[in-house]
Amino acid sequence: MITIKSEEEIELLRKAGEIVGETHHYLEKFIKPGITTKELDKLAYDFIISKGATPSCLGYEGFPATLCTSINDEVVHGIPSNRKLKNGDIITLDIVACYKGYHGDSAWTYSVGTIDDKKKYMMEHTEKALFEGLKMVKPGNRIGDISHAIEEYATKHHMGVVRELVGHGVGTDMHEDPDVPNFGKAGTGPLLKEGMVIAVEPMLTYGKRNICILDDDWTIVTADGEPSAHYEHTVAVTKDGYEILTKR
Ligand code: MF3
Ligand code: CO
Repeated sequence: MITIKSEEEIELLRKAGEIVGETHHYLEKFIKPGITTKELDKLAYDFIISKGATPSCLGYEGFPATLCTSINDEVVHGIPSNRKLKNGDIITLDIVACYKGYHGDSAWTYSVGTIDDKKKYMMEHTEKALFEGLKMVKPGNRIGDISHAIEEYATKHHMGVVRELVGHGVGTDMHEDPDVPNFGKAGTGPLLKEGMVIAVEPMLTYGKRNICILDDDWTIVTADGEPSAHYEHTVAVTKDGYEILTKR
């Protein structure tokens, strides 16, 4: 069921989103060669708690951490560990926080030191794909318009669109209806209405879209070992467009 949020609910979603955006901003300065993903996770946990929120991923279906930390060929759901970031890595931090029962969800890919052109390409064009999708967010358009815009941009830039994972509604649950796939046909799917809140999140790969899951049962990687990037904002559908709730 797709819910329409009241202005009071949007205010709480805005606050949750703001905390997520601030957490990204706070963590960005620590992303350097030598730091471990577990250290980033601890910083994120403490920061979110200090803002009066709780980390939504911690304990979600047994996920053991605050952050999803996905490095290089890891697409999503990487588990923080003693792995140290190295010069030339890219890392996606996927952050979800809950404030007074409402969630904010945003992922962003960061570079560690100096990265090669392939990774630069993935970062630049995956972020652009997110905003191509967001351009379609307004009342009267359909979910398929977002999906199609992302797929078209990705395909035009020879990137793979991961199909097994999709964007989603956000509210009192981290994952609500509707699904927001990163591929599909324009003019299809649920109609967008003012007050809907959705997370748009292209997960793109360099070349082929095939993925595998690691033995930890969480980490999703590209099958061919090529890099992946992931950019996500939670947005509210407004009278004539959208408002980014997870501003950075
Ligand atoms: N933003 C991620 C998603 O939408 C959050 C996953 S939390 C986890 O899938 F606990 F499932 F890792
Ligand atoms: Co999400």
